[in-house]
Order: sequence, then structure tokens, then C-alpha cells
Amino acid sequence: MYLEVDNVMSFKNIIYEKKDNIAIITINRPHVLNALNRDTLLEMLSALTDVEKDPNIRALVITGAGDKAFCAGADVKEFKDKPLVELLEFMELGHKVCTMIENLSKPVIAAVNGYALGGGLELAIACDFIIASTNAKLGQPEINLGIMPGWGATQRLVRLIGLRKAKELILLGEMISAEEALQIGLVNKVVPLERLKDEAFKLAKKLIEKSPIALKFAKHAINAALKTTLPEGLDYERMSFIALYSSEDAQEGIKAFLEKRKPVWKGR
Ligand code: COA
Repeated sequence: MYLEVDNVMSFKNIIYEKKDNIAIITINRPHVLNALNRDTLLEMLSALTDVEKDPNIRALVITGAGDKAFCAGADVKEFKDKPLVELLEFMELGHKVCTMIENLSKPVIAAVNGYALGGGLELAIACDFIIASTNAKLGQPEINLGIMPGWGATQRLVRLIGLRKAKELILLGEMISAEEALQIGLVNKVVPLERLKDEAFKLAKKLIEKSPIALKFAKHAINAALKTTLPEGLDYERMSFIALYSSEDAQEGIKAFLEKRKPVWKGR
């Protein structure tokens, strides 16, 4: 592995580690291909809250334990017999996790190390980057179970890869290879499984070289494109630019460029 992890918080269903300004969440239920049950989602929420709060953490990598799956979706065995009220809570919890990842003020990378199916793919597409291993298989197979995606795919996937391809994935429920996912813009990069974590950390290390406040403002402005009309989005961008420009980092970045030296970011 690229990093020697030096700080670990213990959970039951995930492994949460921190090293060198990067946090790593590993979904750790390999016996069920890292399927997400209620407890795992709750643990992810606490870890994500910690990532947001910890000023030393500047990027997050999410991956799955083992070499077979990133995450095979919602835990079917657990939600099968849930009363509707509990099912609703479970669906809301999944949405909460994906939305929290999407809105996190720090960049999030999904290192997809095998199957990313159903809720597993929905989790990955809420991240800012996806790096997939060559053996990865991605898809929204819910239709084959007589159900439909419930953690954002009908909305986020359409915005990410367009209506045509999103309908193909959701209505046919077939898995696609990592290479096909790359071709349709669903993932950023495909690498052999043995290099996946190194590549994800390499990307995280590049990101933590940037000003954290500039990353935060740029990420939120990009996300605004999904929620607003073009004129509203452009207004948001202009206001964000002005707010960011008044930060110490913006002043430092411009000064450092003119002085032909590396900027020293303060994150404010
Ligand atoms: N929820 C709960 N358990 C799951 C699961 C899920 N989403 N996906 C896999 N598992 C479990 C299997 O039930 C199996 O457990 P068992 O050994 O107790 O029977 C274990 O993980 C290994 O899966 P298995 O199906 O035996 O592996 P495989 O290599 O033959 O097939 C998949 C892999 C991913 C193709 C297959 O597991 C699958 O289709 N999973 C469901 C994917 C899905 O529909 N997700 C959306 C859910 S809404």
C-alpha cells in the first residue's frame, strides 16, 4: 500500500484510517461482497462527519475490503423483511450517506476494486472521482429484482452519463466492464487491481497539494450546476469566485505565481 496508516478509529463494519492528511474508509463486509446494511451506513455517517470536522484531513478515499467487490449494493437480506416505515428510514439513510459524500467540503475518491452494483455504484457516483480496477463490474441490477435504484442513480447517473446511457444501465440492469465505464465517462481511470490503492492515494496526494478552500468552493460551485438553471449557476459561480478571492489562499496563490515560487496554503 502507498501509505503506512498511523491513526485508526475502530468500527465494526468499516475500517476508518487516517494518514498524511488523507482519510480512508474501507467497507469491511467481504463475506457479503461489502453490501450495505443499516449499521454500516450509520458507521459511514460517523466517519464522514469526522472527515468533515477534522481540519487535518484534506481528502477521502472510499474502497471495499478484499479483491472481489467495492460494494454489491444495499444488503438485500436485511431489507427483505423490513416493515415499510423501517424501509423508508433505510432508504433515507442511504441518501444521507451519498448526499453527505457529494457535499463534503473535501474531495472524495472511490477506489472501485471489483463489483460496484446498485447502492454500491450509487455510493461511487456520489464521489468526486472514481478509479476502477480492471476486474471491476459496474451496474444498477435492481430491475432484475423487480425493484429500482433508491439511492440516487435515477438522478445522479442521468446527470453524469446522460439520459440514454442511464436508461440503458437502469432499465436493462446489465453490468458493464471497467473499460466500458471509462468509455461512457462513468469512471476517471482504470488500473490493474494491484495498483488501485496506490493510484487512488496518488490522486489524493495531488489534491491535498491544492488550497483546501479553493477545492471546497470549486466543488460546491460544480455541484450547483446540478441543482440550478444556467443563469442561477453562473450567479453562484460569480459570488463564489468573489468570496474565494478574499481568502488568504487566493492572495497567496496569485502572489506566489508572480514571485515564481510554490504557494504556502493556509486553508483560509
Ligand atoms: N445483499 C446481501 N448479500 C449479498 C449481496 C447483497 N446486495 N450481494 C451479494 N451478497 C452475498 C451473497 O448472498 C452471498 O452470500 P452467501 O454466501 O451467504 O450466499 C455472498 O454475498 C457472495 O455472493 P455470491 O452471489 O455467492 O457471489 P457470486 O460471485 O456468485 O456473484 C454477484 C456476485 C455480485 C454477481 C451477486 O452476488 C449479485 O448479483 N449480488 C446482488 C447484486 C444486487 O442485485 N445489488 C443490488 C441490490 S438492491
